Amino acid sequence: MIDLRSDTATRPTEAMRAAMAAAEVGDEQLREDPTVNELQRRAAELLGQEAALFLPTATMANQIALHVHTRPGQQLIAEERTHVLIYEAGGPAVHSGLVMRGLPAVAGRITAEQIAEVVRTADEGQPAGIVVLENTHRSSGGRVWPLDELAGVAAAVRELGLVVHLDGARIVNAAVAAGVSAADYGRQADSVTLCFSKGLGCPLGAVLAGPAGFVEQAWQGKFLFGGALRQAGIVAAAALYALEHNVERLADDHARARRLAEGLAAAGLAVDPDEVETNFVGIDVRPLGIEAAEARRRIAAEGVLVGALRPGVLRAATYLGIEDEDVERAVDAIPRALGALVRA
Ligand SMILES: Cc1ncc(COP(=O)(O)O)c(C=O)c1O
Repeated sequence: MIDLRSDTATRPTEAMRAAMAAAEVGDEQLREDPTVNELQRRAAELLGQEAALFLPTATMANQIALHVHTRPGQQLIAEERTHVLIYEAGGPAVHSGLVMRGLPAVAGRITAEQIAEVVRTADEGQPAGIVVLENTHRSSGGRVWPLDELAGVAAAVRELGLVVHLDGARIVNAAVAAGVSAADYGRQADSVTLCFSKGLGCPLGAVLAGPAGFVEQAWQGKFLFGGALRQAGIVAAAALYALEHNVERLADDHARARRLAEGLAAAGLAVDPDEVETNFVGIDVRPLGIEAAEARRRIAAEGVLVGALRPGVLRAATYLGIEDEDVERAVDAIPRALGALVRA
């Protein structure tokens, strides 16, 4: 089986496992794990922020950020398919009492005008409080925010007196694709999430970065949300290894996704290679007249697993572990699975 459902299917390499096995460790909750401390220092630098906090997942990083930045009854504004709104089990409402406000946008990129309109028309009892921007934007197919556009929106949000949290679960993919540094993006926001268990190839782990005072408050959130760990250096070592060895190679994942998109488009599927900016390929099955779940079953029967990007659109993701020959097999198998429909 070739598993293209998500880049989270990546497995730690032998070299990463060796780095984990050799990690120096201590009690993280007492801030005595040297490997975690080193990762937090490196991650803050990478993301253009003063400090960072190691956490088990990007979801927890997002939720702690929202909890620290807001008070109950405020509105969280984001593009309508942003991860915090639709894939975090209602966390913003459950944990922080936020009113979730989704806005339509192309490629996940909401505008300053849309945000200003929400602020202007907000009910007194539920004022706008925080804006979450996602880069890369998952549900639009791993699309990248141009740096100047993200900077412009973030500056406008601050002018309006709101806070900006950047869900940069895949910010390193965005930086590699845009040819800028992750810090260039990261310093535009009041806080930033980065995930290690996707393109960076780690088994788990994330960080939340921001100003030192914010990160101190986030430490309380780490305890509150149950994310305070013990000898976590074992995992932080994988993340440090990834920052050293797995960043530049993201360009290979992006090139493979592009190759896959071109192959599928050439076979007649509704795939737009120009929308493939990072490691996701969106395959729109609506023109084929079948449900996405049925399309996924047919593709699986040909030896390839694909996931869901948004309703009616499948996701094929490339990552560390997917090689050129896997892509070529998928270029062959996916159209074969859906072939009769393509010709119909
Ligand atoms: C944009 C985005 N943010 C956050 C997350 C959450 O990551 P985790 O699974 O580490 O909680 C994901 C996971 O796919 C994501 O795509």
